[in-house]
Amino acid sequence: MITLTIDDRPVTVAEGTTIREAARALGIEIPTVCYHSHFTANSLCRVCVVELERSRVLVPACSRLVENGMVIQTNSLRVQAARQTILELMASAIDLSQAPDIQRLLQQCHADAEKFAGGAVRDLPLYDDNAMYIRDYSKCILCWRCVQACGTDVQYTFAITIADRGFHSRVSTFEEMSIPESTCVFCGNCVAACPTGALKAKREWLIEQGRPLEPMPLGPRRRRGRKAGDESLDLLGGQESS
Ligand code: SF4
Ligand code: FES
Repeated sequence: MITLTIDDRPVTVAEGTTIREAARALGIEIPTVCYHSHFTANSLCRVCVVELERSRVLVPACSRLVENGMVIQTNSLRVQAARQTILELMASAIDLSQAPDIQRLLQQCHADAEKFAGGAVRDLPLYDDNAMYIRDYSKCILCWRCVQACGTDVQYTFAITIADRGFHSRVSTFEEMSIPESTCVFCGNCVAACPTGALKAKREWLIEQGRPLEPMPLGPRRRRGRKAGDESLDLLGGQESS
């Protein structure tokens, strides 16, 4: 067992416990954005950072494991300032209009969504290339949940991954191919995992747009190498719009 101190209170937890879980044992809820209990924590958003005594940098509570004698502050002024800035930068670059949990967090952390207004904005195309879901990457916070759901955390399909670097990083299929041409099996796990509305069921999106519903495809998905003129295999095809 491991004993540490969180917000001046001692707690003893099993080895392998994260700081976030240890704090929860004390009834302390550390805010998170990219973390999801069903997926590997990759410490991407850093909203969950806490102050660890004798550590030069703030550490992510969702992934950092507890150690004996740790002394942690989950809500110090330094932590509050870091969380605010992270959320303010996120709000300045990404359309969070359909991310109610993050909007709530902005309020809770007294973050000013307009603080960095006028900076670079992630303005990416909306992909409407299949009958099951749309991809609106202007709303994507790069939490990686969809990639993990498609990969080794759930589906082992590997239809999507992260492409490019830095500010231009984005979720993409292999060589930007359309979803029907990719290895996607339309399991829907990525859509369920997305916290921002960047991935959304096509029908839900059509209703929001006030557009007529399209018939649901019942035939087999398109396979690579199909014969020319085999229209039954085109049912999940679509077009890209912006
Ligand atoms: S599309 Fe959604 S789930 Fe995927 S990385 Fe972006 S925000 Fe996360
Ligand atoms: S919730 Fe821990 S880094 Fe995102």
